[in-house]
Amino acid sequence: MRVEPVPALQGHIAVPGDKSISHRAVLVGALCEEVTRIRGFGRSADTESTIAAVGALGARVDELDVDTLAVQGVGLRGIVEPSQAVDCGNAGTLMRLLVGVLAGQRGSFELVGDTSLSRRPMERIAEPLRAMGATVVTVDGHAPLTVSGSPLQAIRYELPVASAQVKSAVLLAGLNTEGGETTVVEPVPTRDHTERLLERAGAQVVRAPGRVSVRPATRLELPELEIPGDFSSAAPLLVAAAIVPGSELTVHGVGLNSRRTGLLDVLERMGARIAVYNRRSIGGEPAGDVEIRSSELVGTSVSAGEVPVLVDEIPLFAIAACHARGDSVVRGASELRAKESDRIAGVVEELRKLGAHIRATRDGFRVRGVPARLRGGSMDARGDHRLAMLGAVAGLSSREGVDVAGADAVETSFPGFFGLLGQLTG
Ligand code: S3P
Repeated sequence: MRVEPVPALQGHIAVPGDKSISHRAVLVGALCEEVTRIRGFGRSADTESTIAAVGALGARVDELDVDTLAVQGVGLRGIVEPSQAVDCGNAGTLMRLLVGVLAGQRGSFELVGDTSLSRRPMERIAEPLRAMGATVVTVDGHAPLTVSGSPLQAIRYELPVASAQVKSAVLLAGLNTEGGETTVVEPVPTRDHTERLLERAGAQVVRAPGRVSVRPATRLELPELEIPGDFSSAAPLLVAAAIVPGSELTVHGVGLNSRRTGLLDVLERMGARIAVYNRRSIGGEPAGDVEIRSSELVGTSVSAGEVPVLVDEIPLFAIAACHARGDSVVRGASELRAKESDRIAGVVEELRKLGAHIRATRDGFRVRGVPARLRGGSMDARGDHRLAMLGAVAGLSSREGVDVAGADAVETSFPGFFGLLGQLTG
Protein backbone atom coordinates (compact mmCIF):
# COMPACT_ATOMS: atom_id res chain seq x y z
CA MET A 1 0.00 0.00 0.00
CA ARG A 2 1.38 3.38 -1.00
CA VAL A 3 0.29 6.34 1.14
CA GLU A 4 0.84 9.72 -0.48
CA PRO A 5 1.39 12.97 1.40
CA VAL A 6 -1.75 15.08 1.84
CA PRO A 7 -2.12 18.82 2.22
CA ALA A 8 -4.59 18.36 5.10
CA LEU A 9 -7.15 15.98 6.67
CA GLN A 10 -10.64 17.32 7.00
CA GLY A 11 -14.01 15.92 7.90
CA HIS A 12 -16.39 14.34 10.35
CA ILE A 13 -16.20 10.59 10.85
CA ALA A 14 -17.13 7.71 13.12
CA VAL A 15 -14.96 4.64 13.71
CA PRO A 16 -16.05 1.02 14.31
CA GLY A 17 -16.95 -0.24 17.79
CA ASP A 18 -14.28 -0.69 20.42
CA LYS A 19 -12.32 -3.93 19.93
CA SER A 20 -11.61 -4.52 23.63
CA ILE A 21 -15.28 -4.11 24.49
CA SER A 22 -16.45 -6.13 21.48
CA HIS A 23 -14.40 -9.16 22.61
CA ARG A 24 -15.74 -8.82 26.14
CA ALA A 25 -19.34 -8.32 25.02
CA VAL A 26 -19.32 -11.59 23.07
CA LEU A 27 -17.54 -13.51 25.85
CA VAL A 28 -19.85 -12.20 28.58
CA GLY A 29 -22.86 -12.70 26.28
CA ALA A 30 -21.82 -16.34 25.92
CA LEU A 31 -21.97 -16.71 29.73
CA CYS A 32 -25.44 -15.15 30.01
CA GLU A 33 -28.65 -17.20 30.28
CA GLU A 34 -30.64 -15.22 27.73
CA VAL A 35 -29.89 -13.40 24.50
CA THR A 36 -27.51 -10.42 24.47
CA ARG A 37 -28.12 -7.98 21.65
CA ILE A 38 -24.95 -6.06 20.79
CA ARG A 39 -25.06 -2.89 18.71
CA GLY A 40 -22.00 -1.08 17.40
CA PHE A 41 -19.95 -4.29 17.37
CA GLY A 42 -16.44 -3.65 16.06
CA ARG A 43 -16.05 -6.22 13.31
CA SER A 44 -12.46 -7.20 12.55
CA ALA A 45 -10.37 -10.32 12.16
CA ASP A 46 -9.75 -10.35 15.93
CA THR A 47 -13.38 -10.07 16.96
CA GLU A 48 -14.44 -12.58 14.30
CA SER A 49 -12.13 -15.01 16.11
CA THR A 50 -14.13 -14.38 19.27
CA ILE A 51 -17.45 -15.03 17.52
CA ALA A 52 -16.10 -18.30 16.14
CA ALA A 53 -14.61 -19.29 19.52
CA VAL A 54 -17.84 -18.90 21.52
CA GLY A 55 -19.69 -20.71 18.71
CA ALA A 56 -17.32 -23.66 19.09
CA LEU A 57 -17.96 -23.61 22.85
CA GLY A 58 -21.74 -23.93 22.56
CA ALA A 59 -23.07 -20.35 22.30
CA ARG A 60 -25.03 -19.20 19.25
CA VAL A 61 -24.20 -15.92 17.55
CA ASP A 62 -26.63 -14.50 14.99
CA GLU A 63 -25.17 -11.71 12.91
CA LEU A 64 -28.22 -9.47 12.41
CA ASP A 65 -26.33 -6.74 10.66
CA VAL A 66 -22.66 -5.88 10.01
CA ASP A 67 -22.42 -4.36 13.50
CA THR A 68 -25.38 -5.95 15.31
CA LEU A 69 -25.14 -9.37 16.94
CA ALA A 70 -27.44 -11.52 19.02
CA VAL A 71 -25.53 -13.87 21.32
CA GLN A 72 -27.47 -16.76 22.85
CA GLY A 73 -25.43 -17.68 25.89
CA VAL A 74 -24.96 -21.05 27.56
CA GLY A 75 -25.00 -19.76 31.15
CA LEU A 76 -22.10 -19.37 33.55
CA ARG A 77 -21.22 -23.05 33.72
CA GLY A 78 -22.64 -24.33 30.46
CA ILE A 79 -19.60 -24.16 28.16
CA VAL A 80 -19.40 -27.26 25.95
CA GLU A 81 -16.10 -29.06 25.29
CA PRO A 82 -15.36 -28.61 21.56
CA SER A 83 -14.18 -31.42 19.30
CA GLN A 84 -11.22 -29.34 18.05
CA ALA A 85 -8.78 -26.76 19.36
CA VAL A 86 -10.20 -23.24 19.65
CA ASP A 87 -8.37 -20.96 17.22
CA CYS A 88 -7.74 -17.49 18.67
CA GLY A 89 -6.02 -16.23 15.51
CA ASN A 90 -4.00 -13.09 16.27
CA ALA A 91 -6.14 -12.05 19.25
CA GLY A 92 -4.27 -11.88 22.56
CA THR A 93 -7.32 -10.48 24.34
CA LEU A 94 -9.41 -13.44 23.22
CA MET A 95 -6.88 -16.07 24.23
CA ARG A 96 -6.14 -14.56 27.63
CA LEU A 97 -9.72 -13.80 28.63
CA LEU A 98 -10.93 -17.15 27.35
CA VAL A 99 -8.55 -19.02 29.65
CA GLY A 100 -10.25 -17.21 32.55
CA VAL A 101 -13.69 -18.18 31.24
CA LEU A 102 -12.70 -21.84 30.79
CA ALA A 103 -10.82 -22.32 34.07
CA GLY A 104 -13.99 -23.12 36.05
CA GLN A 105 -15.83 -25.11 33.37
CA ARG A 106 -16.18 -28.87 32.98
CA GLY A 107 -13.87 -30.28 30.35
CA SER A 108 -10.53 -29.79 28.73
CA PHE A 109 -9.87 -27.11 26.14
CA GLU A 110 -6.98 -26.52 23.77
CA LEU A 111 -6.33 -22.95 22.58
CA VAL A 112 -4.15 -22.18 19.58
CA GLY A 113 -3.14 -18.96 17.83
CA ASP A 114 -1.21 -17.69 14.82
CA THR A 115 2.59 -17.37 14.78
CA SER A 116 2.57 -13.94 16.44
CA LEU A 117 0.16 -14.99 19.21
CA SER A 118 2.15 -18.19 19.78
CA ARG A 119 5.20 -16.07 20.60
CA ARG A 120 3.44 -13.98 23.25
CA PRO A 121 3.77 -14.68 27.01
CA MET A 122 1.00 -16.85 28.48
CA GLU A 123 2.43 -17.82 31.88
CA ARG A 124 1.13 -14.49 33.18
CA ILE A 125 -2.38 -15.95 32.75
CA ALA A 126 -1.57 -19.51 33.72
CA GLU A 127 0.03 -18.60 37.04
CA PRO A 128 -2.96 -16.92 38.80
CA LEU A 129 -5.41 -19.44 37.36
CA ARG A 130 -3.32 -22.33 38.67
CA ALA A 131 -3.35 -20.62 42.07
CA MET A 132 -7.16 -20.75 41.81
CA GLY A 133 -7.06 -24.50 41.11
CA ALA A 134 -7.24 -24.75 37.32
CA THR A 135 -4.80 -26.85 35.32
CA VAL A 136 -3.21 -24.74 32.61
CA VAL A 137 -0.42 -26.20 30.50
CA THR A 138 1.64 -23.98 28.21
CA VAL A 139 4.46 -24.88 25.81
CA ASP A 140 7.43 -23.12 27.38
CA GLY A 141 5.13 -20.33 28.51
CA HIS A 142 3.40 -19.99 25.16
CA ALA A 143 0.40 -21.21 23.16
CA PRO A 144 -0.78 -23.79 22.24
CA LEU A 145 -2.16 -24.13 25.73
CA THR A 146 -4.53 -26.52 27.42
CA VAL A 147 -6.96 -25.58 30.16
CA SER A 148 -8.61 -28.29 32.24
CA GLY A 149 -11.48 -26.78 34.15
CA SER A 150 -11.67 -27.49 37.89
CA PRO A 151 -13.54 -26.24 40.96
CA LEU A 152 -11.91 -22.88 41.68
CA GLN A 153 -10.89 -21.09 44.87
CA ALA A 154 -11.11 -17.33 45.26
CA ILE A 155 -7.73 -15.58 45.44
CA ARG A 156 -6.23 -12.18 46.04
CA TYR A 157 -3.82 -11.53 43.21
CA GLU A 158 -1.36 -8.72 42.86
CA LEU A 159 -0.58 -8.13 39.18
CA PRO A 160 3.18 -8.37 38.57
CA VAL A 161 2.71 -6.56 35.23
CA ALA A 162 0.10 -3.89 34.53
CA SER A 163 -2.20 -5.91 32.28
CA ALA A 164 -5.94 -5.53 31.72
CA GLN A 165 -5.97 -8.91 30.05
CA VAL A 166 -4.56 -10.69 33.11
CA LYS A 167 -6.87 -8.74 35.43
CA SER A 168 -9.85 -9.68 33.26
CA ALA A 169 -8.94 -13.38 33.12
CA VAL A 170 -8.78 -13.57 36.93
CA LEU A 171 -12.07 -11.67 37.33
CA LEU A 172 -13.84 -13.92 34.82
CA ALA A 173 -12.56 -17.00 36.64
CA GLY A 174 -13.68 -15.35 39.90
CA LEU A 175 -17.31 -15.61 38.75
CA ASN A 176 -17.06 -19.38 38.98
CA THR A 177 -15.32 -20.00 42.32
CA GLU A 178 -16.82 -22.08 45.13
CA GLY A 179 -17.17 -18.99 47.34
CA GLY A 180 -15.49 -15.84 48.58
CA GLU A 181 -14.20 -12.76 46.90
CA THR A 182 -11.59 -12.81 44.14
CA THR A 183 -9.53 -9.64 44.25
CA VAL A 184 -7.08 -8.25 41.73
CA VAL A 185 -4.69 -5.57 42.97
CA GLU A 186 -3.22 -3.40 40.23
CA PRO A 187 -0.18 -1.22 40.77
CA VAL A 188 -1.14 1.07 37.89
CA PRO A 189 -4.72 1.46 36.59
CA THR A 190 -5.45 -0.43 33.36
CA ARG A 191 -8.59 -0.41 31.22
CA ASP A 192 -11.68 -1.40 33.22
CA HIS A 193 -14.10 -2.57 30.51
CA THR A 194 -14.46 -6.02 32.07
CA GLU A 195 -15.44 -4.60 35.47
CA ARG A 196 -18.00 -2.30 33.87
CA LEU A 197 -19.50 -5.03 31.74
CA LEU A 198 -19.72 -7.59 34.54
CA GLU A 199 -21.45 -5.03 36.74
CA ARG A 200 -23.97 -4.33 33.98
CA ALA A 201 -24.57 -8.06 33.59
CA GLY A 202 -25.50 -8.31 37.28
CA ALA A 203 -22.27 -9.64 38.84
CA GLN A 204 -21.23 -8.35 42.26
CA VAL A 205 -18.19 -6.21 41.54
CA VAL A 206 -16.58 -4.07 44.23
CA ARG A 207 -14.14 -1.41 43.12
CA ALA A 208 -11.67 0.55 45.23
CA PRO A 209 -8.59 2.55 44.25
CA GLY A 210 -5.97 0.09 43.05
CA ARG A 211 -8.12 -3.02 43.32
CA VAL A 212 -11.25 -4.73 42.10
CA SER A 213 -13.12 -7.75 43.50
CA VAL A 214 -15.77 -10.06 42.15
CA ARG A 215 -18.00 -12.63 43.89
CA PRO A 216 -19.14 -15.91 42.42
CA ALA A 217 -22.29 -15.40 40.37
CA THR A 218 -25.26 -17.65 39.73
CA ARG A 219 -26.49 -16.01 36.56
CA LEU A 220 -25.59 -13.14 34.26
CA GLU A 221 -27.95 -11.12 32.12
CA LEU A 222 -27.08 -8.43 29.62
CA PRO A 223 -30.06 -7.99 27.28
CA GLU A 224 -28.76 -4.95 25.37
CA LEU A 225 -25.34 -3.42 24.87
CA GLU A 226 -24.22 -0.56 22.69
CA ILE A 227 -20.48 -0.24 22.06
CA PRO A 228 -18.82 3.16 21.54
CA GLY A 229 -16.32 3.81 18.75
CA ASP A 230 -12.81 2.50 19.34
CA PHE A 231 -10.49 5.23 20.62
CA SER A 232 -7.52 3.17 19.43
CA SER A 233 -8.94 3.18 15.87
CA ALA A 234 -9.62 6.92 16.04
CA ALA A 235 -6.10 7.56 17.33
CA PRO A 236 -4.14 7.27 14.03
CA LEU A 237 -6.54 9.71 12.38
CA LEU A 238 -6.35 12.11 15.33
CA VAL A 239 -2.56 12.05 15.29
CA ALA A 240 -2.46 12.57 11.52
CA ALA A 241 -4.73 15.61 11.91
CA ALA A 242 -2.58 16.94 14.76
CA ILE A 243 0.60 16.90 12.66
CA VAL A 244 -0.53 17.68 9.10
CA PRO A 245 -0.86 21.49 8.87
CA GLY A 246 -4.31 22.82 8.04
CA SER A 247 -6.15 19.72 9.30
CA GLU A 248 -9.41 19.76 11.18
CA LEU A 249 -11.09 16.48 12.08
CA THR A 250 -13.96 15.40 14.31
CA VAL A 251 -14.49 11.79 15.38
CA HIS A 252 -18.03 11.23 16.62
CA GLY A 253 -19.27 8.76 19.22
CA VAL A 254 -15.86 7.55 20.31
CA GLY A 255 -15.14 5.88 23.65
CA LEU A 256 -13.40 8.22 26.10
CA ASN A 257 -12.76 5.98 29.07
CA SER A 258 -9.92 7.76 30.88
CA ARG A 259 -8.01 4.49 31.09
CA ARG A 260 -7.80 4.52 27.29
CA THR A 261 -7.35 8.18 26.38
CA GLY A 262 -3.86 8.91 27.68
CA LEU A 263 -2.88 9.89 24.14
CA LEU A 264 -5.21 12.93 24.33
CA ASP A 265 -3.52 14.12 27.53
CA VAL A 266 -0.09 13.61 26.00
CA LEU A 267 -1.03 15.42 22.79
CA GLU A 268 -2.48 18.31 24.80
CA ARG A 269 0.76 18.51 26.73
CA MET A 270 2.54 18.78 23.38
CA GLY A 271 0.32 21.70 22.35
CA ALA A 272 -2.37 19.97 20.28
CA ARG A 273 -5.70 21.76 19.91
CA ILE A 274 -8.34 19.31 21.10
CA ALA A 275 -11.97 19.83 22.10
CA VAL A 276 -14.51 17.26 23.26
CA TYR A 277 -18.22 17.82 22.62
CA ASN A 278 -21.40 15.97 23.58
CA ARG A 279 -19.94 14.00 26.42
CA ARG A 280 -22.30 11.12 27.09
CA SER A 281 -22.45 7.51 28.15
CA ILE A 282 -22.59 4.74 25.53
CA GLY A 283 -23.15 1.25 26.94
CA GLY A 284 -21.94 2.34 30.38
CA GLU A 285 -18.72 3.83 28.98
CA PRO A 286 -17.79 7.53 28.76
CA ALA A 287 -17.94 8.73 25.16
CA GLY A 288 -18.10 11.92 23.11
CA ASP A 289 -17.12 13.67 19.89
CA VAL A 290 -13.45 14.62 19.63
CA GLU A 291 -12.31 17.53 17.49
CA ILE A 292 -8.65 18.09 16.73
CA ARG A 293 -6.89 20.79 14.70
CA SER A 294 -3.30 20.78 13.63
CA SER A 295 -0.84 22.87 15.60
CA GLU A 296 2.84 23.16 16.34
CA LEU A 297 3.85 20.52 18.86
CA VAL A 298 6.62 20.38 21.45
CA GLY A 299 8.33 17.24 22.76
CA THR A 300 7.33 15.58 26.03
CA SER A 301 8.06 12.48 28.06
CA VAL A 302 5.86 9.52 28.92
CA SER A 303 6.70 7.58 32.06
CA ALA A 304 5.89 4.08 33.31
CA GLY A 305 2.82 5.13 35.31
CA GLU A 306 1.24 6.65 32.23
CA VAL A 307 2.01 3.82 29.79
CA PRO A 308 -1.12 1.67 30.38
CA VAL A 309 -3.52 4.50 29.46
CA LEU A 310 -1.93 4.84 26.02
CA VAL A 311 -0.28 1.45 25.64
CA ASP A 312 -1.62 0.77 22.13
CA GLU A 313 -1.06 4.37 21.04
CA ILE A 314 2.65 4.63 21.89
CA PRO A 315 3.67 3.94 18.27
CA LEU A 316 1.53 6.94 17.31
CA PHE A 317 3.09 9.04 20.03
CA ALA A 318 6.41 8.31 18.31
CA ILE A 319 5.31 9.87 15.03
CA ALA A 320 3.81 12.88 16.83
CA ALA A 321 7.13 13.28 18.66
CA CYS A 322 9.04 13.16 15.33
CA HIS A 323 7.10 16.27 14.24
CA ALA A 324 7.44 18.12 17.55
CA ARG A 325 10.04 20.73 18.48
CA GLY A 326 12.59 19.24 20.91
CA ASP A 327 13.16 15.86 22.48
CA SER A 328 10.64 13.25 23.56
CA VAL A 329 11.11 10.08 25.55
CA VAL A 330 9.12 6.99 26.56
CA ARG A 331 10.22 5.05 29.63
CA GLY A 332 8.83 1.99 31.42
CA ALA A 333 7.19 0.58 28.31
CA SER A 334 8.96 -2.79 27.99
CA GLU A 335 5.50 -4.41 27.67
CA LEU A 336 5.55 -3.09 24.11
CA ARG A 337 8.07 -5.78 23.29
CA ALA A 338 5.38 -8.41 24.06
CA LYS A 339 2.62 -7.09 21.79
CA GLU A 340 1.63 -8.39 18.33
CA SER A 341 5.25 -7.59 17.43
CA ASP A 342 8.16 -6.09 19.37
CA ARG A 343 6.79 -2.57 19.03
CA ILE A 344 9.89 -0.86 20.42
CA ALA A 345 12.09 -2.41 17.75
CA GLY A 346 9.41 -2.05 15.08
CA VAL A 347 8.61 1.61 15.71
CA VAL A 348 12.24 2.64 15.97
CA GLU A 349 13.64 0.66 13.03
CA GLU A 350 10.74 1.41 10.68
CA LEU A 351 10.54 5.14 11.46
CA ARG A 352 14.31 5.49 11.04
CA LYS A 353 13.90 4.17 7.48
CA LEU A 354 11.59 7.14 6.86
CA GLY A 355 14.08 9.70 8.13
CA ALA A 356 13.13 9.95 11.83
CA HIS A 357 15.68 10.64 14.56
CA ILE A 358 14.62 7.97 17.00
CA ARG A 359 16.52 5.38 18.99
CA ALA A 360 15.48 2.47 21.13
CA THR A 361 16.19 2.07 24.82
CA ARG A 362 15.64 -1.08 26.89
CA ASP A 363 12.13 -0.01 27.90
CA GLY A 364 11.13 2.66 25.41
CA PHE A 365 12.64 5.11 22.96
CA ARG A 366 13.99 8.64 22.51
CA VAL A 367 13.06 10.97 19.67
CA ARG A 368 14.71 14.15 18.45
CA GLY A 369 11.82 16.02 16.91
CA VAL A 370 12.02 18.29 13.88
CA PRO A 371 8.94 20.43 13.21
CA ALA A 372 8.79 19.51 9.52
CA ARG A 373 7.57 16.64 7.37
CA LEU A 374 9.50 13.35 7.47
CA ARG A 375 11.19 12.34 4.24
CA GLY A 376 9.21 9.11 3.67
CA GLY A 377 10.27 5.91 1.91
CA SER A 378 9.37 2.27 2.60
CA MET A 379 8.50 0.54 5.85
CA ASP A 380 7.24 -2.88 6.90
CA ALA A 381 4.23 -3.37 9.17
CA ARG A 382 5.81 -6.62 10.48
CA GLY A 383 2.36 -8.26 10.57
CA ASP A 384 1.25 -5.77 13.23
CA HIS A 385 -1.92 -3.70 12.67
CA ARG A 386 -0.73 -0.82 14.84
CA LEU A 387 2.51 -0.55 12.83
CA ALA A 388 0.54 -0.61 9.56
CA MET A 389 -1.53 2.36 10.76
CA LEU A 390 1.64 4.10 11.94
CA GLY A 391 3.06 3.70 8.43
CA ALA A 392 -0.09 5.25 6.95
CA VAL A 393 0.11 8.27 9.27
CA ALA A 394 3.79 8.64 8.41
CA GLY A 395 2.89 8.60 4.70
CA LEU A 396 0.24 11.31 5.03
CA SER A 397 2.61 13.59 6.88
CA SER A 398 5.71 12.83 4.78
CA ARG A 399 7.34 14.75 1.92
CA GLU A 400 7.67 11.80 -0.47
CA GLY A 401 5.00 9.29 0.63
CA VAL A 402 5.43 5.91 2.28
CA ASP A 403 5.14 2.38 0.90
CA VAL A 404 3.71 0.24 3.70
CA ALA A 405 4.53 -3.43 3.19
CA GLY A 406 2.01 -5.74 4.83
CA ALA A 407 -0.58 -2.97 5.18
CA ASP A 408 -3.35 -5.58 5.18
CA ALA A 409 -2.48 -6.18 8.84
CA VAL A 410 -5.04 -3.43 9.54
CA GLU A 411 -7.69 -6.16 9.08
CA THR A 412 -6.83 -7.31 12.60
CA SER A 413 -8.58 -4.34 14.20
CA PHE A 414 -9.86 -1.90 11.58
CA PRO A 415 -10.66 -3.37 8.13
CA GLY A 416 -12.10 -0.08 6.81
CA PHE A 417 -9.08 2.00 7.82
CA PHE A 418 -7.71 2.84 4.38
CA GLY A 419 -11.19 3.55 2.98
CA LEU A 420 -11.90 6.01 5.76
CA LEU A 421 -8.53 7.65 5.26
CA GLY A 422 -9.42 8.20 1.60
CA GLN A 423 -12.59 10.06 2.65
CA LEU A 424 -10.62 12.47 4.81
CA THR A 425 -7.95 13.26 2.32
CA GLY A 426 -10.17 13.83 -0.74
C1 S3P B 1 -6.23 -5.13 26.04
C2 S3P B 1 -5.31 -4.78 26.97
C3 S3P B 1 -3.97 -4.26 26.64
C4 S3P B 1 -3.85 -3.84 25.19
C5 S3P B 1 -4.49 -4.81 24.26
C6 S3P B 1 -5.96 -5.00 24.59
C7 S3P B 1 -7.54 -5.62 26.49
O1 S3P B 1 -3.04 -5.26 26.94
O2 S3P B 1 -2.50 -3.65 24.83
O3 S3P B 1 -4.39 -4.36 22.92
O4 S3P B 1 -8.49 -5.68 25.67
O5 S3P B 1 -7.66 -5.96 27.67
P1 S3P B 1 -2.57 -5.56 28.45
O6 S3P B 1 -3.04 -6.89 28.83
O7 S3P B 1 -1.08 -5.43 28.38
O8 S3P B 1 -3.20 -4.53 29.35
